[in-house]
Parts: sequence; C-alpha cells; structure tokens
Amino acid sequence: MSEVARILFSASDIRRRVRSLGAEIAADYAGRSPVLVTMLKGGAMFLSDLIREIPLPVRVDFMSISAYGADSEASGGVVRILKDLDQPIGGEDVLVVEDIVDTGLTLSYLLSALQERGPKSVEVCTLLDKTARRIPVVPIRYQGFECPDRFVVGYGLDIGERYRNLPDILEVLDMSALQADPDQLASFLHGEPPVPADGDPPVPADAG
Ligand code: IMP
Ligand code: MG
Repeated sequence: MSEVARILFSASDIRRRVRSLGAEIAADYAGRSPVLVTMLKGGAMFLSDLIREIPLPVRVDFMSISAYGADSEASGGVVRILKDLDQPIGGEDVLVVEDIVDTGLTLSYLLSALQERGPKSVEVCTLLDKTARRIPVVPIRYQGFECPDRFVVGYGLDIGERYRNLPDILEVLDMSALQADPDQLASFLHGEPPVPADGDPPVPADAG
C-alpha cells in the first residue's frame, strides 16, 4: 500500500520556527503594541503559539470569512465577512497572521479591505507560503516555511473540517485514497513517536 500522507513539518520543526518568528516580530515591533489579526479558523493555532513568543503588549482580533465561489480562484478572492473585527484598526499597527497563503487571492482582497480602515501599518505573517501557486503579488513580511504545491493538513489546517488537531503538518500524497477513507490519518493524531534523547535510561526489554 502506498503512503497516503507523510509529515512535512513536525511539531518540533514548527515549535522552533514559531519561536524564531516571534523573536523577529518582537524585535521589529519593539516599543509598539501591534494588533494581530487572524482569519478563523485555520490560523487560530498558529496565532496562539506565536503570541506567546512575542513579549510585547499585543492585542488579538479575529475575522471569519467565506468565499463566494467553490474556492478562491473561482471567486477571484472576493469574500463575505461572516464575523468582522471587534475593534477599529484606525491608526494601529496591524499584523495579519495566516496559516497558509496559497493563490494569495483571499489575502489580497482582505488587505485592501483592511487598508480602507486607515491603519498605521499592515504587514503579513504566514506560517506556510505556497509561492508556486501565487496569482497576485502579496507582500509577505514574515514567512514560516516555503510550502510545496501539495495539499497540507494539520496544526490548524483542515480537510473537510477534520485534522486541525494534528500536531504535525502533513502533506497529502494520495488525495483519492484519503477521500475514499477519511479515517486514514487517524494514526497521525498522536504525533511522531517519541525519539529517546541521548542519555535517557534504556527501556527494559520486558517493559509494558
Ligand atoms: P488562497 O488561495 O491564498 O486565497 O487561500 C485560501 C484558503 O485556502 C487558505 O486560507 C486556506 O484556508 C485554504 N488552503 C489553501 N491551501 C490549503 C492546503 O493545502 N490545505 C488546507 N487549506 C488550504
Ligand atoms: Mg486561511
């Protein structure tokens, strides 16, 4: 049987990268109080880890959007706002925190909508950047990882609302097999098997 999916970025890869993004953002925004704006639901997990790596008085706010067409290419990125920000952003330093930028159509539309509200600045931080699929130019200030042109799930990203709680990010290798049996990734929900660190006591042969 061929592999349906495999780990692209492990939980520990993600933890390390989020820590260094947080440090970079904290240095760039020193002395300021940025508002971190995230699109529900995919970006929520990244945001919650990222803000704990930014020792500044940040605020967070959320938007929920829905595409008009089947996907962002069909709708040209035009979205309907299902839930708007709670607070105005006029005069604020806004940092948009995204899980993934694919074609960039949704983000491009959102950036122009946010710009109309008169923020002092708007920058983008995305965990994953699928540059190969980009249609409009979108200014990405902070990039977690360059992402191959593959469907990815986990760490907030879903397939049909499932698997947001995978600790790792997986790339789907066989989409038709996964669609035929969506339970196929259940074994990944436990994360990578623990690798014993050097110096750990050996596990007795009769353990368990
Ligand atoms: P866009 O093509 O950049 O407008 O991306 C729109 C949205 O599609 C993203 O915010 C994600 O919610 C979703 N998306 C794009 N690629 C993937 C993927 O590989 N896995 C899960 N969701 C994705
Ligand atoms: Mg998204």
